[in-house]
Amino acid sequence: MHHKLVVLQEIRPNKVYLVKYQNQDKGQFYLKKYLAYQYQNIVEVVKILKGQQLRNIVKIIDVSIENNELLCVVEEACKYNLREIIKLHETTFDTQEILKCLLDIIGGLLELKNLNIFHRDIKPDNIVYDGENYKIIDFETAKKFQDDRTKVQSLDIGTLNYRAPEITQNRAYSSQCDVWSLGCLFYYMLFKQERNHMDQLVIPQNHNYDDQIIKILERMLEKNEKKRITLANLQNDVQQLYNINNNQTQSTRLEQNTINLVSDINKNINEIHNDINTFNNIMTNLIIKEKNEQKIIKLYQFWTKRLGTIFPLKIKERQTIENLLLFQIQEFKQKRIKIDLFASIDQIKDELNCIQDLNDYYDF
Ligand SMILES: Nc1ncnc2c1ncn2[C@@H]1O[C@H](COP(=O)(O)OP(=O)(O)OP(=O)(O)O)[C@@H](O)[C@H]1O
Ligand SMILES: [Mg+2]
Repeated sequence: MHHKLVVLQEIRPNKVYLVKYQNQDKGQFYLKKYLAYQYQNIVEVVKILKGQQLRNIVKIIDVSIENNELLCVVEEACKYNLREIIKLHETTFDTQEILKCLLDIIGGLLELKNLNIFHRDIKPDNIVYDGENYKIIDFETAKKFQDDRTKVQSLDIGTLNYRAPEITQNRAYSSQCDVWSLGCLFYYMLFKQERNHMDQLVIPQNHNYDDQIIKILERMLEKNEKKRITLANLQNDVQQLYNINNNQTQSTRLEQNTINLVSDINKNINEIHNDINTFNNIMTNLIIKEKNEQKIIKLYQFWTKRLGTIFPLKIKERQTIENLLLFQIQEFKQKRIKIDLFASIDQIKDELNCIQDLNDYYDF
């Protein structure tokens, strides 16, 4: 074992370890060992990747050769790989998250393609999530190519259910083989089940996905690699879908949350003073109209703070709005929207354009 490294956990026997550097507080890393007979291609690839700042490729920290083994230290991106993440979060891994993940991996494959590298083993086990981005790991089958087309055939490359037909059928292939595997991965994310490589493409019945999504899937799983969608076009199409979806989910979810909330308050608390009803309705309408996430949070903050001062006895209502504020913060954080919190009522007033509409209410 590498003298500076301490093994914390053996992830795959004799092959992948969770490690840390001795006497240093640099965090945890993964160490992967490749045997000599495997490593000619890999040495070339990891040397190119080492030190590069790539958004969707796990960062390679150190490469060395010891006792005929290639040792490769990479940053720890996450405790779980994509297969494990989907199992743990089956219901929250929704269309938007699937598109975000797909976009990230397309980004990673384009980063590799720019460096003339194929990955050749894209599958859920070789994708990890660092809390912000999805990243490609495992360069065991990666290879540097000269002109984006291999002349020799390689058997057995990649994992059977994710292997492109041109590889299975022993033909020369290009970086388009990674688009096929990514198509298989997309299928797995959408339907939470693996596609058998022998099967024709069958789209399970009763799904709720948009036609556009299924069309993209079919264009990725096109058997003829020349007709298969290219990475650049794929990135374009998926980005567009992601943007449309993002705007829709954001506004509909918000509207639904606030409308439900106000109707709950009004239903459950009969003795409520008429003025608090009007105030709640005004706040709801302002939040629905507001497009800026930061201002939405400010409006919620204003709402809870004003409830506290103008209706100090209505503790239950304030708690409900506070919960909604927390829920909203959580939701924005998941969408990686950065928000400032803990604003004073004066700061809030300064930043809200709609404060005029609220004038009637705040000097109660
Ligand atoms: N940098 C990393 N960050 C997070 N998890 C990692 C990292 N590297 C490896 N892992 C975890 O270890 C697993 C195995 O690593 P890797 O894919 O490199 O080995 P492998 O050769 O494919 O092993 P096997 O085929 O036996 O699964 C991954 O599926 C992932 O769960
Ligand atoms: Mg792997």
